Amino acid sequence: MPPRRIIIDTDPGQDDAVAILLALASPEEIEVLGIVAVAGNVPLPLTARNARVVCELAGRPEVPVFAGCDRPLAQPLVTAEHVHGKTGLDGADLPEPHMPLQARHGVDFIIGTLRAEPSGTVSLCCLGPLTDIATAFTRAPDIVPRVQEIVLMGGAYFEVGNITPAAEFNIYVDPEAADIVFRSGVPLTVVPLDLTHRALTSAARVQAFRDLGTPVGRAVAGWTDFFERFDREKYGSQGAPLHDPCAIARLIAPGLFSGRFVNVVIETRGDYTRGMTVADWWRVSGRAPNATFLRELDAEGFFALLTERIGRL
Ligand code: RIB
Ligand code: CA
Repeated sequence: MPPRRIIIDTDPGQDDAVAILLALASPEEIEVLGIVAVAGNVPLPLTARNARVVCELAGRPEVPVFAGCDRPLAQPLVTAEHVHGKTGLDGADLPEPHMPLQARHGVDFIIGTLRAEPSGTVSLCCLGPLTDIATAFTRAPDIVPRVQEIVLMGGAYFEVGNITPAAEFNIYVDPEAADIVFRSGVPLTVVPLDLTHRALTSAARVQAFRDLGTPVGRAVAGWTDFFERFDREKYGSQGAPLHDPCAIARLIAPGLFSGRFVNVVIETRGDYTRGMTVADWWRVSGRAPNATFLRELDAEGFFALLTERIGRL
């Protein structure tokens, strides 16, 4: 089976960083064509820096990193330093990157790659707000049918929101962009909080990263330790949900996941529910299904895969 060829769109963020490492550690299953940083957890200059920090940590300075959009389509940027710290990668002390940021805009890279590669051979793995993807689809509608699949970390239904009572952060930051993507007709796999809240770190799981005895293992342990405190305070949960690595793991080991093909729409107007992913899990709306909405995870299998792959770097 040839590797899945993907573009990662991301707002690093500690969990994005672990997701990028997992992708770069899995060349048999994933070929990373490029990484596009988007404004989200922290502003774009930092997400564009952080993506390069992670590539260099992985020993992969040749991976092209681009800067995408610096603000949502229709509202001011909301960031999450309260979760990720001021730098977005608090928890591990890593050097400034030497590798260059590509001069080309990330949206132009997405459009150009989808036009240049054979139709249906490139997937988009989205780990942050969907601003870049929506901008690319609006600017170049011809690329929409050429996308093999979008696998995105975002949304929530039974688990409800993490940035508002109704909305998950990636969708909440840019609901208009999410609405464009969810209406696009592109094969869509959604990795929501309903699933990622089952991917909780624990002291033993963090120690397993540390026990790898490598700079990458130590960084991942430091990030997950830092990232955990928000969820422990908020949910009283022991452990940080490793949101974004679940989206990458879905491409590597789909058997770890299960869900349902249902209709999912984005609330863009509700005073209290703006940014909510309304998943018609019980199929009562009559609206056509448009997304595989994942809900179940083999957490032990996920962490075994993640730890083994991180250990390769
Ligand atoms: O709600 C979790 C998502 O928002 C993750 O992608 C995290 O990195 C933040 O972007
Ligand atoms: Ca993210």
